[in-house]
Amino acid sequence: MKLPYAEPYKIKMVETIKRSTLVQRKKWIKEAHFNLFNLSSDKVFIDVLTDSGTGAMSDKQWGAMMEGDESYAGSRSFLKLKETIQKITGFEYILPTHQGRAAENVLFSALVKEGNLVPGNSHFDTTKGHIEFRKATAVDCTIDEAFETTNLHPFKGNVNLEKLEKVLKDNPKENIPLVILTITCNSSGGQPVSMQNIKDVSQICKKYEIPLFFDAARFAENAYFIKLREAGYQDKTIKEIAKEAFSYGDGMTMSSKKDGLVNMGGFIALNNEETFKQCTVFNIMYEGFITYGGMNGRDMAALSVGLDEATEFNFLESRIEQVAYLGKKLVEFGVPVQQPFGGHAIFIDANKFVPTIPREEYRAQALAIELYIIGGIRGVEIGTVLADRDPFTRKNRYPDLELVRLAIPRRTYSQNHMDYIAVVLKNIYDSRAEAKSGYIIVDEAPIMRHFTAKFEKI
Ligand code: F0G
Repeated sequence: MKLPYAEPYKIKMVETIKRSTLVQRKKWIKEAHFNLFNLSSDKVFIDVLTDSGTGAMSDKQWGAMMEGDESYAGSRSFLKLKETIQKITGFEYILPTHQGRAAENVLFSALVKEGNLVPGNSHFDTTKGHIEFRKATAVDCTIDEAFETTNLHPFKGNVNLEKLEKVLKDNPKENIPLVILTITCNSSGGQPVSMQNIKDVSQICKKYEIPLFFDAARFAENAYFIKLREAGYQDKTIKEIAKEAFSYGDGMTMSSKKDGLVNMGGFIALNNEETFKQCTVFNIMYEGFITYGGMNGRDMAALSVGLDEATEFNFLESRIEQVAYLGKKLVEFGVPVQQPFGGHAIFIDANKFVPTIPREEYRAQALAIELYIIGGIRGVEIGTVLADRDPFTRKNRYPDLELVRLAIPRRTYSQNHMDYIAVVLKNIYDSRAEAKSGYIIVDEAPIMRHFTAKFEKI
Protein backbone atom coordinates (compact mmCIF):
# COMPACT_ATOMS: atom_id res chain seq x y z
CA MET A 1 0.00 0.00 0.00
CA LYS A 2 1.30 3.46 -0.89
CA LEU A 3 2.18 5.39 2.24
CA PRO A 4 0.10 8.51 2.82
CA TYR A 5 1.76 11.88 3.26
CA ALA A 6 2.35 13.10 6.78
CA GLU A 7 3.44 16.46 8.10
CA PRO A 8 7.25 16.69 8.33
CA TYR A 9 6.98 18.42 11.72
CA LYS A 10 5.41 17.98 15.12
CA ILE A 11 3.67 20.63 17.22
CA LYS A 12 5.55 22.53 19.91
CA MET A 13 3.10 25.30 20.80
CA VAL A 14 -0.66 25.64 20.44
CA GLU A 15 -3.07 28.56 20.37
CA THR A 16 -6.63 28.22 21.68
CA ILE A 17 -9.47 28.95 19.26
CA LYS A 18 -13.02 29.33 20.49
CA ARG A 19 -16.28 27.89 19.26
CA SER A 20 -19.35 30.10 19.47
CA THR A 21 -23.10 29.68 19.11
CA LEU A 22 -25.31 30.29 16.12
CA VAL A 23 -27.10 33.08 18.00
CA GLN A 24 -23.81 34.83 18.79
CA ARG A 25 -22.59 34.60 15.20
CA LYS A 26 -25.82 35.98 13.77
CA LYS A 27 -25.45 38.99 16.04
CA TRP A 28 -21.74 39.45 15.36
CA ILE A 29 -21.98 39.30 11.58
CA LYS A 30 -24.79 41.85 11.61
CA GLU A 31 -22.69 44.15 13.79
CA ALA A 32 -19.86 43.65 11.27
CA HIS A 33 -22.17 44.94 8.49
CA PHE A 34 -22.01 41.48 6.91
CA ASN A 35 -18.38 42.02 5.97
CA LEU A 36 -16.18 39.17 7.19
CA PHE A 37 -13.16 41.49 7.26
CA ASN A 38 -14.90 43.42 10.05
CA LEU A 39 -15.03 40.45 12.43
CA SER A 40 -12.51 40.31 15.25
CA SER A 41 -10.61 37.03 15.11
CA ASP A 42 -11.91 35.82 18.49
CA LYS A 43 -15.33 35.56 16.87
CA VAL A 44 -13.99 33.11 14.28
CA PHE A 45 -13.48 29.40 14.93
CA ILE A 46 -11.57 28.38 11.82
CA ASP A 47 -10.02 31.26 9.92
CA VAL A 48 -9.48 30.50 6.25
CA LEU A 49 -9.81 34.11 5.14
CA THR A 50 -6.28 33.97 3.82
CA ASP A 51 -3.08 31.97 3.78
CA SER A 52 -1.20 35.27 3.85
CA GLY A 53 0.91 35.84 6.94
CA THR A 54 -1.20 33.38 8.91
CA GLY A 55 1.12 30.37 8.90
CA ALA A 56 3.17 28.94 11.75
CA MET A 57 6.89 29.59 11.84
CA SER A 58 9.31 26.79 12.67
CA ASP A 59 11.57 26.59 15.71
CA LYS A 60 14.49 27.36 13.36
CA GLN A 61 12.77 30.54 12.20
CA TRP A 62 12.10 31.64 15.78
CA GLY A 63 15.69 30.83 16.61
CA ALA A 64 16.90 32.95 13.70
CA MET A 65 14.79 35.85 14.96
CA MET A 66 16.86 35.97 18.13
CA GLU A 67 19.92 36.60 15.99
CA GLY A 68 18.28 39.32 13.89
CA ASP A 69 20.52 42.32 13.30
CA GLU A 70 18.58 45.57 13.63
CA SER A 71 21.23 47.84 12.13
CA TYR A 72 19.69 50.58 10.01
CA ALA A 73 22.17 50.08 7.18
CA GLY A 74 23.91 46.93 6.03
CA SER A 75 22.21 44.62 8.52
CA ARG A 76 23.70 41.11 8.65
CA SER A 77 20.16 39.76 8.42
CA PHE A 78 19.65 41.64 5.16
CA LEU A 79 22.90 40.31 3.72
CA LYS A 80 21.91 36.77 4.65
CA LEU A 81 18.45 37.27 3.15
CA LYS A 82 19.94 38.69 -0.03
CA GLU A 83 22.20 35.66 -0.35
CA THR A 84 19.25 33.27 0.16
CA ILE A 85 17.08 35.08 -2.38
CA GLN A 86 19.91 35.17 -4.90
CA LYS A 87 20.48 31.44 -4.40
CA ILE A 88 16.79 30.53 -4.76
CA THR A 89 15.79 32.94 -7.56
CA GLY A 90 19.00 33.68 -9.40
CA PHE A 91 18.11 37.41 -9.46
CA GLU A 92 20.93 39.77 -8.61
CA TYR A 93 19.41 42.90 -7.06
CA ILE A 94 17.18 42.66 -4.00
CA LEU A 95 15.01 45.27 -2.27
CA PRO A 96 13.06 44.34 0.85
CA THR A 97 9.57 45.81 1.30
CA HIS A 98 7.04 45.48 4.08
CA GLN A 99 4.77 43.19 2.04
CA GLY A 100 3.86 42.16 -1.50
CA ARG A 101 1.72 45.13 -2.47
CA ALA A 102 4.50 47.44 -1.29
CA ALA A 103 6.84 45.69 -3.72
CA GLU A 104 4.23 46.31 -6.43
CA ASN A 105 3.94 49.95 -5.41
CA VAL A 106 7.69 50.48 -5.62
CA LEU A 107 8.20 48.60 -8.89
CA PHE A 108 5.18 50.14 -10.60
CA SER A 109 6.15 53.62 -9.42
CA ALA A 110 9.32 53.10 -11.41
CA LEU A 111 7.76 51.43 -14.46
CA VAL A 112 4.03 52.02 -14.93
CA LYS A 113 2.66 55.28 -16.38
CA GLU A 114 -0.80 56.58 -17.22
CA GLY A 115 -2.29 54.89 -20.30
CA ASN A 116 0.03 51.85 -20.11
CA LEU A 117 -1.08 48.26 -20.57
CA VAL A 118 0.16 45.52 -18.27
CA PRO A 119 -0.72 42.08 -19.65
CA GLY A 120 -0.55 38.89 -17.60
CA ASN A 121 -2.59 35.99 -16.23
CA SER A 122 -5.43 37.13 -13.92
CA HIS A 123 -3.68 39.81 -11.86
CA PHE A 124 -4.20 39.71 -8.12
CA ASP A 125 -6.42 42.53 -6.81
CA THR A 126 -3.60 44.57 -5.24
CA THR A 127 -1.60 44.22 -8.46
CA LYS A 128 -4.55 45.37 -10.49
CA GLY A 129 -5.27 48.09 -7.94
CA HIS A 130 -1.74 49.47 -8.23
CA ILE A 131 -1.96 49.37 -12.03
CA GLU A 132 -5.37 51.06 -12.19
CA PHE A 133 -4.41 53.61 -9.55
CA ARG A 134 -1.83 54.80 -12.09
CA LYS A 135 -4.55 55.01 -14.75
CA ALA A 136 -3.06 52.06 -16.57
CA THR A 137 -4.86 48.84 -17.55
CA ALA A 138 -4.26 45.25 -16.51
CA VAL A 139 -4.96 42.99 -19.49
CA ASP A 140 -5.99 39.48 -18.51
CA CYS A 141 -4.60 36.93 -20.98
CA THR A 142 -5.35 33.77 -18.97
CA ILE A 143 -6.42 30.66 -20.91
CA ASP A 144 -10.21 30.25 -21.21
CA GLU A 145 -10.10 26.84 -19.49
CA ALA A 146 -9.32 28.64 -16.22
CA PHE A 147 -12.85 29.92 -16.03
CA GLU A 148 -14.55 26.54 -16.29
CA THR A 149 -14.47 25.15 -12.77
CA THR A 150 -14.83 21.52 -13.85
CA ASN A 151 -12.20 21.62 -16.59
CA LEU A 152 -9.31 19.49 -15.33
CA HIS A 153 -6.56 21.32 -17.23
CA PRO A 154 -3.41 20.77 -15.12
CA PHE A 155 -2.13 24.34 -15.55
CA LYS A 156 -5.09 26.67 -15.37
CA GLY A 157 -2.83 29.59 -14.52
CA ASN A 158 -1.36 29.50 -18.02
CA VAL A 159 -1.35 32.47 -20.36
CA ASN A 160 -3.09 32.21 -23.70
CA LEU A 161 -0.11 32.98 -25.93
CA GLU A 162 -2.20 34.31 -28.80
CA LYS A 163 -4.03 36.75 -26.54
CA LEU A 164 -0.71 37.93 -25.13
CA GLU A 165 1.01 38.26 -28.48
CA LYS A 166 -1.94 40.22 -29.88
CA VAL A 167 -1.63 42.80 -27.09
CA LEU A 168 2.11 43.08 -27.63
CA LYS A 169 1.77 43.30 -31.41
CA ASP A 170 -1.10 45.80 -31.47
CA ASN A 171 0.45 48.30 -29.07
CA PRO A 172 3.64 50.34 -29.14
CA LYS A 173 6.41 48.91 -27.01
CA GLU A 174 6.61 52.13 -24.96
CA ASN A 175 3.06 51.50 -23.83
CA ILE A 176 3.77 48.12 -22.23
CA PRO A 177 6.24 48.51 -19.38
CA LEU A 178 6.13 44.87 -18.30
CA VAL A 179 4.27 41.57 -18.44
CA ILE A 180 3.33 39.98 -15.10
CA LEU A 181 3.04 36.26 -14.58
CA THR A 182 1.42 35.34 -11.27
CA ILE A 183 2.66 31.98 -9.98
CA THR A 184 0.47 30.33 -8.81
CA CYS A 185 -2.42 32.35 -10.17
CA ASN A 186 -4.47 33.26 -7.11
CA SER A 187 -7.32 34.95 -8.97
CA SER A 188 -7.96 31.93 -11.21
CA GLY A 189 -8.07 29.63 -8.19
CA GLY A 190 -4.51 29.07 -6.97
CA GLN A 191 -3.74 27.44 -10.29
CA PRO A 192 -0.21 26.78 -11.51
CA VAL A 193 1.58 27.96 -14.64
CA SER A 194 3.56 25.28 -16.49
CA MET A 195 7.26 25.61 -17.18
CA GLN A 196 6.49 25.37 -20.89
CA ASN A 197 4.10 28.29 -20.62
CA ILE A 198 6.64 30.32 -18.63
CA LYS A 199 9.20 29.63 -21.39
CA ASP A 200 6.75 30.54 -24.16
CA VAL A 201 5.68 33.77 -22.45
CA SER A 202 9.32 34.62 -21.90
CA GLN A 203 10.09 34.09 -25.57
CA ILE A 204 7.24 36.36 -26.67
CA CYS A 205 8.37 39.03 -24.21
CA LYS A 206 11.92 38.81 -25.57
CA LYS A 207 10.65 39.09 -29.14
CA TYR A 208 8.86 42.35 -28.29
CA GLU A 209 11.60 43.48 -25.87
CA ILE A 210 9.29 43.74 -22.88
CA PRO A 211 10.47 42.72 -19.41
CA LEU A 212 8.78 39.73 -17.78
CA PHE A 213 8.16 39.89 -14.03
CA PHE A 214 6.74 37.22 -11.77
CA ASP A 215 4.28 37.91 -9.02
CA ALA A 216 5.90 35.07 -7.12
CA ALA A 217 3.90 34.96 -3.86
CA ARG A 218 3.36 31.19 -4.24
CA PHE A 219 6.28 30.26 -6.48
CA ALA A 220 7.20 27.18 -4.42
CA GLU A 221 3.68 25.78 -4.71
CA ASN A 222 3.89 26.43 -8.45
CA ALA A 223 7.14 24.46 -8.59
CA TYR A 224 5.51 21.58 -6.70
CA PHE A 225 2.77 21.33 -9.33
CA ILE A 226 5.35 21.41 -12.14
CA LYS A 227 7.22 18.56 -10.47
CA LEU A 228 4.04 16.50 -10.18
CA ARG A 229 2.34 17.35 -13.45
CA GLU A 230 4.86 18.30 -16.11
CA ALA A 231 6.96 15.76 -17.99
CA GLY A 232 10.68 16.03 -17.36
CA TYR A 233 10.51 17.55 -13.87
CA GLN A 234 9.77 14.49 -11.69
CA ASP A 235 13.39 14.03 -10.71
CA LYS A 236 14.22 17.69 -10.17
CA THR A 237 14.13 19.30 -6.74
CA ILE A 238 11.71 22.12 -5.95
CA LYS A 239 14.66 24.49 -5.71
CA GLU A 240 15.91 23.48 -9.16
CA ILE A 241 12.46 23.93 -10.67
CA ALA A 242 11.91 27.33 -9.04
CA LYS A 243 15.28 28.57 -10.18
CA GLU A 244 14.67 27.43 -13.73
CA ALA A 245 11.29 29.22 -13.77
CA PHE A 246 12.86 32.47 -12.55
CA SER A 247 15.63 32.18 -15.14
CA TYR A 248 13.09 32.96 -17.88
CA GLY A 249 12.13 36.29 -16.32
CA ASP A 250 13.70 39.65 -15.54
CA GLY A 251 12.48 40.06 -12.00
CA MET A 252 9.82 39.41 -9.42
CA THR A 253 7.69 40.94 -6.72
CA MET A 254 7.16 38.79 -3.67
CA SER A 255 4.72 38.65 -0.83
CA SER A 256 6.83 36.79 1.72
CA LYS A 257 3.67 36.20 3.74
CA LYS A 258 2.92 33.19 1.55
CA ASP A 259 5.82 31.04 0.35
CA GLY A 260 8.26 32.96 2.54
CA LEU A 261 6.59 31.33 5.56
CA VAL A 262 6.66 34.54 7.58
CA ASN A 263 3.90 36.72 8.99
CA MET A 264 5.00 39.95 7.31
CA GLY A 265 7.37 40.94 4.54
CA GLY A 266 7.99 41.22 0.84
CA PHE A 267 10.68 42.01 -1.66
CA ILE A 268 11.58 42.89 -5.21
CA ALA A 269 14.30 40.90 -6.96
CA LEU A 270 15.52 41.73 -10.44
CA ASN A 271 18.42 41.73 -12.86
CA ASN A 272 18.33 45.13 -14.52
CA GLU A 273 20.58 47.60 -12.72
CA GLU A 274 18.84 50.67 -14.13
CA THR A 275 15.39 49.50 -12.96
CA PHE A 276 16.90 48.60 -9.60
CA LYS A 277 18.28 52.14 -9.25
CA GLN A 278 14.88 53.65 -10.08
CA CYS A 279 13.22 51.34 -7.56
CA THR A 280 15.66 52.26 -4.78
CA VAL A 281 14.42 55.86 -4.90
CA PHE A 282 10.82 54.81 -4.33
CA ASN A 283 11.83 52.15 -1.83
CA ILE A 284 13.54 54.75 0.32
CA MET A 285 10.55 57.08 0.06
CA TYR A 286 7.81 54.55 0.72
CA GLU A 287 9.40 51.65 2.59
CA GLY A 288 12.70 52.44 4.23
CA PHE A 289 16.39 52.27 3.51
CA ILE A 290 17.37 49.71 0.88
CA THR A 291 18.73 47.20 3.38
CA TYR A 292 15.53 46.91 5.42
CA GLY A 293 12.64 48.36 3.37
CA GLY A 294 10.01 48.19 6.09
CA MET A 295 11.21 44.91 7.62
CA ASN A 296 12.79 44.28 11.00
CA GLY A 297 16.20 42.62 10.96
CA ARG A 298 14.71 39.68 12.87
CA ASP A 299 11.93 39.30 10.32
CA MET A 300 14.47 39.23 7.49
CA ALA A 301 16.35 36.55 9.44
CA ALA A 302 13.19 34.45 9.78
CA LEU A 303 12.44 34.95 6.09
CA SER A 304 15.82 33.54 5.00
CA VAL A 305 15.01 30.34 6.87
CA GLY A 306 11.38 30.37 5.70
CA LEU A 307 12.29 30.58 2.02
CA ASP A 308 14.54 27.60 2.45
CA GLU A 309 11.89 25.53 4.28
CA ALA A 310 9.11 26.48 1.86
CA THR A 311 11.09 25.14 -1.09
CA GLU A 312 11.45 21.64 0.39
CA PHE A 313 9.33 18.88 -1.15
CA ASN A 314 8.11 17.27 2.09
CA PHE A 315 6.75 20.54 3.40
CA LEU A 316 5.01 21.35 0.12
CA GLU A 317 3.56 17.87 -0.18
CA SER A 318 1.92 18.04 3.25
CA ARG A 319 0.73 21.59 2.63
CA ILE A 320 -0.79 21.05 -0.80
CA GLU A 321 -2.14 17.58 0.01
CA GLN A 322 -3.94 19.01 3.04
CA VAL A 323 -5.69 21.48 0.76
CA ALA A 324 -6.53 18.62 -1.64
CA TYR A 325 -7.85 16.53 1.28
CA LEU A 326 -10.44 19.22 1.95
CA GLY A 327 -11.21 19.46 -1.77
CA LYS A 328 -11.79 15.70 -2.07
CA LYS A 329 -14.13 15.69 0.94
CA LEU A 330 -16.19 18.47 -0.61
CA VAL A 331 -16.36 16.68 -3.95
CA GLU A 332 -17.54 13.54 -2.13
CA PHE A 333 -20.35 15.62 -0.62
CA GLY A 334 -21.28 16.97 -4.05
CA VAL A 335 -20.23 20.54 -3.24
CA PRO A 336 -19.18 22.31 -6.48
CA VAL A 337 -15.55 23.39 -6.24
CA GLN A 338 -12.91 24.59 -8.65
CA GLN A 339 -10.86 21.68 -10.01
CA PRO A 340 -8.09 20.76 -10.05
CA PHE A 341 -7.79 21.99 -6.46
CA GLY A 342 -5.66 25.08 -5.96
CA GLY A 343 -2.35 25.01 -4.16
CA HIS A 344 -3.28 27.27 -1.28
CA ALA A 345 -7.04 27.17 -1.29
CA ILE A 346 -10.27 25.48 -2.25
CA PHE A 347 -12.60 27.66 -4.26
CA ILE A 348 -16.32 26.98 -3.99
CA ASP A 349 -18.29 27.69 -7.14
CA ALA A 350 -21.13 29.90 -5.91
CA ASN A 351 -22.71 30.12 -9.38
CA LYS A 352 -23.41 26.40 -9.11
CA PHE A 353 -23.95 26.32 -5.35
CA VAL A 354 -26.54 29.12 -5.04
CA PRO A 355 -27.76 30.01 -8.55
CA THR A 356 -31.03 30.89 -6.81
CA ILE A 357 -29.48 34.11 -5.45
CA PRO A 358 -29.30 36.80 -8.18
CA ARG A 359 -25.76 37.87 -9.14
CA GLU A 360 -26.66 41.47 -8.40
CA GLU A 361 -27.14 40.36 -4.81
CA TYR A 362 -23.57 39.09 -4.44
CA ARG A 363 -24.24 35.37 -4.23
CA ALA A 364 -20.66 34.40 -3.29
CA GLN A 365 -20.66 36.96 -0.48
CA ALA A 366 -24.00 35.52 0.68
CA LEU A 367 -22.50 32.02 0.75
CA ALA A 368 -19.40 33.21 2.65
CA ILE A 369 -21.69 34.81 5.25
CA GLU A 370 -23.70 31.61 5.58
CA LEU A 371 -20.52 29.61 6.10
CA TYR A 372 -19.65 31.89 8.98
CA ILE A 373 -23.12 31.82 10.52
CA ILE A 374 -23.46 28.06 10.37
CA GLY A 375 -19.91 27.03 11.26
CA GLY A 376 -17.90 29.99 12.54
CA ILE A 377 -15.67 29.57 9.46
CA ARG A 378 -14.31 32.70 7.80
CA GLY A 379 -13.64 32.38 4.07
CA VAL A 380 -13.60 35.17 1.55
CA GLU A 381 -15.62 36.21 -1.48
CA ILE A 382 -13.78 36.19 -4.79
CA GLY A 383 -16.51 37.45 -7.05
CA THR A 384 -18.38 40.61 -7.90
CA VAL A 385 -17.56 42.37 -4.64
CA LEU A 386 -13.84 41.81 -5.15
CA ALA A 387 -14.02 42.56 -8.89
CA ASP A 388 -15.01 46.09 -7.92
CA ARG A 389 -16.40 48.73 -10.26
CA ASP A 390 -15.02 49.57 -13.66
CA PRO A 391 -12.75 52.57 -13.02
CA PHE A 392 -14.20 54.44 -15.99
CA THR A 393 -17.92 53.54 -16.08
CA ARG A 394 -18.18 52.93 -12.28
CA LYS A 395 -20.49 49.99 -13.05
CA ASN A 396 -20.17 46.68 -11.18
CA ARG A 397 -17.87 44.26 -12.99
CA TYR A 398 -19.28 40.74 -13.11
CA PRO A 399 -16.43 38.24 -13.35
CA ASP A 400 -16.94 34.84 -15.00
CA LEU A 401 -16.66 33.12 -11.65
CA GLU A 402 -18.33 33.79 -8.33
CA LEU A 403 -16.20 31.99 -5.78
CA VAL A 404 -15.80 31.59 -2.05
CA ARG A 405 -12.18 30.94 -1.22
CA LEU A 406 -11.10 28.79 1.68
CA ALA A 407 -7.40 29.59 1.96
CA ILE A 408 -5.54 27.23 4.24
CA PRO A 409 -2.80 28.77 6.41
CA ARG A 410 0.51 26.89 6.31
CA ARG A 411 1.31 24.43 9.14
CA THR A 412 -1.64 25.73 11.17
CA TYR A 413 -4.77 23.57 11.07
CA SER A 414 -5.22 19.81 11.33
CA GLN A 415 -7.08 17.28 9.22
CA ASN A 416 -9.95 17.45 11.76
CA HIS A 417 -10.37 21.13 10.99
CA MET A 418 -10.65 20.21 7.31
CA ASP A 419 -13.31 17.60 8.16
CA TYR A 420 -15.24 20.17 10.17
CA ILE A 421 -15.22 22.69 7.30
CA ALA A 422 -16.38 20.01 4.85
CA VAL A 423 -19.32 18.95 7.01
CA VAL A 424 -20.47 22.54 7.60
CA LEU A 425 -20.46 23.07 3.84
CA LYS A 426 -22.30 19.83 3.22
CA ASN A 427 -25.06 20.90 5.60
CA ILE A 428 -25.38 24.27 3.89
CA TYR A 429 -25.37 22.57 0.51
CA ASP A 430 -28.17 20.23 1.54
CA SER A 431 -30.42 23.19 2.35
CA ARG A 432 -29.30 25.40 -0.56
CA ALA A 433 -32.74 25.51 -2.21
CA GLU A 434 -33.91 27.79 0.61
CA ALA A 435 -31.40 30.51 -0.33
CA LYS A 436 -33.28 33.02 -2.44
CA SER A 437 -31.85 36.44 -1.76
CA GLY A 438 -28.51 38.03 -0.98
CA TYR A 439 -27.19 41.44 0.01
CA ILE A 440 -26.88 45.02 -1.16
CA ILE A 441 -23.85 47.25 -0.61
CA VAL A 442 -24.73 50.36 1.39
CA ASP A 443 -21.25 51.85 1.71
CA GLU A 444 -18.05 51.27 -0.27
CA ALA A 445 -14.57 52.71 -0.86
CA PRO A 446 -13.63 53.99 -4.34
CA ILE A 447 -11.00 51.25 -4.78
CA MET A 448 -10.56 47.77 -3.24
CA ARG A 449 -14.00 48.06 -1.73
CA HIS A 450 -14.20 44.47 -0.47
CA PHE A 451 -12.10 45.21 2.62
CA THR A 452 -14.42 47.82 4.07
CA ALA A 453 -17.77 47.67 2.23
CA LYS A 454 -20.90 47.56 4.37
CA PHE A 455 -23.75 45.26 3.36
CA GLU A 456 -27.40 44.91 4.25
CA LYS A 457 -29.43 41.76 3.95
CA ILE A 458 -32.19 41.89 1.37
N1 F0G B 1 0.17 38.82 -5.28
C1 F0G B 1 -0.59 37.75 -5.00
C2 F0G B 1 -0.70 36.65 -5.99
C3 F0G B 1 -1.26 37.68 -3.78
O1 F0G B 1 -2.02 36.63 -3.52
C4 F0G B 1 -1.12 38.75 -2.86
C5 F0G B 1 -1.82 38.73 -1.58
C6 F0G B 1 -0.31 39.83 -3.19
C7 F0G B 1 0.32 39.83 -4.42
C8 F0G B 1 -0.12 41.01 -2.27
O2 F0G B 1 0.71 40.64 -1.22
O3 F0G B 1 -0.71 40.81 0.83
O4 F0G B 1 1.76 40.79 0.96
O5 F0G B 1 0.60 42.76 0.09
N2 F0G B 1 -2.73 37.92 -1.33
C9 F0G B 1 -3.42 37.78 -0.07
C10 F0G B 1 -4.51 36.79 -0.24
C11 F0G B 1 -3.85 39.03 0.57
O6 F0G B 1 -5.33 36.64 0.70
O7 F0G B 1 -4.58 36.09 -1.26
P1 F0G B 1 0.56 41.30 0.25
